[in-house]
Amino acid sequence: MSLVPDRWFCARVTVTGPLGEGEGGGDPEDNGDGDDDDGDTPKATFPCYRWLESGHLELREATARTPREVALDPQLLQQRQEERRERQEAFQWAPYAPGWPWRLRALPPTLCPWPPPRPVSPASPVSPVSPVSPAPRPPSPPLSPSLAFPLGHRASIAARAAAAQVRVRLRGLHGGGSWRSFDDIREALGCPGTPISEYVVQHWQDDAFFGEQYLSGVNPLLLRRCSRLPPNFPVTPPMVAPTLGPDTSLQREMEGGRVFLADYALLEGLPTGRLGGEPQFLCAPLCLLWLSPRQRLLPIAIQLSQHPGPPIFVPGDGPWGWALAKLWVRGAHFLLHEMVPHLLHSHFLAETFAVATQRLPAGHPIHQLLLPHCRFTFHINILARDTLLNPGGIIDQATAIGREGTLELVARGTAALTYTELCVPDDMENRGVTDVPNYHYRDDALEIWGAIESLAEGIVAIYYPKDSDVAEDHELQDWVGEIFTYAVLGNEKSGFPSKLCTRPELVKFLTMIIFCCSARHAAVNSGQYDYAAWMPNTPGMLRRPPPATKEEATAELLLATLPSPQATGALLALLSVVSYEGGEPRPLGSRWQEPFSEAPPRRVVATFRRRVATIARRIRRRNEGLALPYPYLEPPLVQESVAI
Ligand code: FE2
Repeated sequence: MSLVPDRWFCARVTVTGPLGEGEGGGDPEDNGDGDDDDGDTPKATFPCYRWLESGHLELREATARTPREVALDPQLLQQRQEERRERQEAFQWAPYAPGWPWRLRALPPTLCPWPPPRPVSPASPVSPVSPVSPAPRPPSPPLSPSLAFPLGHRASIAARAAAAQVRVRLRGLHGGGSWRSFDDIREALGCPGTPISEYVVQHWQDDAFFGEQYLSGVNPLLLRRCSRLPPNFPVTPPMVAPTLGPDTSLQREMEGGRVFLADYALLEGLPTGRLGGEPQFLCAPLCLLWLSPRQRLLPIAIQLSQHPGPPIFVPGDGPWGWALAKLWVRGAHFLLHEMVPHLLHSHFLAETFAVATQRLPAGHPIHQLLLPHCRFTFHINILARDTLLNPGGIIDQATAIGREGTLELVARGTAALTYTELCVPDDMENRGVTDVPNYHYRDDALEIWGAIESLAEGIVAIYYPKDSDVAEDHELQDWVGEIFTYAVLGNEKSGFPSKLCTRPELVKFLTMIIFCCSARHAAVNSGQYDYAAWMPNTPGMLRRPPPATKEEATAELLLATLPSPQATGALLALLSVVSYEGGEPRPLGSRWQEPFSEAPPRRVVATFRRRVATIARRIRRRNEGLALPYPYLEPPLVQESVAI
């Protein structure tokens, strides 16, 4: 019994028929080994999934059924329609900022552990294809406990945040201005405390490590094969000849598929903020990389602009010129990664998936499949909007673009978003990176994608025997239509489906959602502290303009360009909290409080769980032999929802 008053959580009520116990009733809390529900005992399951408080509570039996099955029973049909109306009342769409995916309007007050977020009042709300009425509605009764952080989870996050603040103060990370020397930086940041962050301290200036981070770092989603130089990046063969060596040429290497590009064009011209009265700076670089005969991905040319004119830096430019060029690329990499693959592709898209899913009846098979992947997503996003994105929040304190630039960058990312980039096999093909050696993210992501795809196939096969069953499920079509409308704002160029007509289309869409809410978020979230704790490897802001000539690059300029100790501390405190799941972790496949109550889907889930365990063993064995392991997609470390 808790010493702190809290509500009682009820997952479900199971009513067993007159044949009594021991004839196949099974344990309703079992996580789905598939062997417990095969008997003939009449049994009905009433999912609750909410905190029980005083008052009237109405539960409906919710064996997973499509609308076609429900339509045959007038009473079930009426219940289903009533439930749908209630859910659509409780889970409403709301805009946040122009060009952004929409969000949940607000948590019902009884579920929100602190006051609802302050309205940001965007100047002109986005206009999706079929907007819902923006008129405020009275609070609705709570429907799902998975919207609220329980008390222990809240306390865990608060305690970790407080401890992080204390560590930052003890390291002396509270002053403005510049670092006096690298010794000062080493003294403050030199022992970041995790094996990978210690590796970063040792190797941050190595070109091979710089390249490796595109494959197995915290944002392994940007690298693209380059068979022809973009017209705004005029690298000449003599510039890179000293790096490539005597027996080849840039043209030959491109034709051989060994040249790659990292393009930060999305950052071009973003507004930047001021911190402590100081302007902050940003550039949108282009970085060319080469896969060497020793199978190492090496940077060979960097231009700190999308427009030809500034110098193109190469490794032979002297230690500070090349180091400064790489520093600017890493600063751009951090901003792009945090705002687009992390916040947009993971957090805010996951929220649209969760809102649309919560608006489905609890008995819909898609609702039951996806519910574990919605856990805590609303709440962590409310926390992000309240403490990161709010005016004067951590994004204003610790990043070059601040809140204003972030609003613009996420809007650009939303406009540029494609279905292809969220579907792992398509993404690898599209970026031309299917055969790059030592691309651990790709190897792990493809395996996990395959496992999730099998899970989705198994569930779809049970509830949708024919393609026409998919096409005729009007609840499903509303669900995918809402995601198209509110996630990508009805942008047909995104390639997102606005309707699903076949079983393979549905399987792919479900796989994309589950992967984005679990493995993709883990890939861009869990390594944040590892790779940014040594700030020179991942600066959140830069305090001097990019060097206009190679000659002006000096050690003094590099030190003056780095973020101040105070900005470094603000970012470190945040990353040391959000890089790790707090409270009670729910690894991929755990499906704690399994919504499916029948044996067939639970057997599919059990098979999925076994496959995930096999993947975990393979990744663990691989990592044991690596100097720099890639642990972020080890399934026990992958949470099944965006919860931190
Ligand atoms: Fe996150």
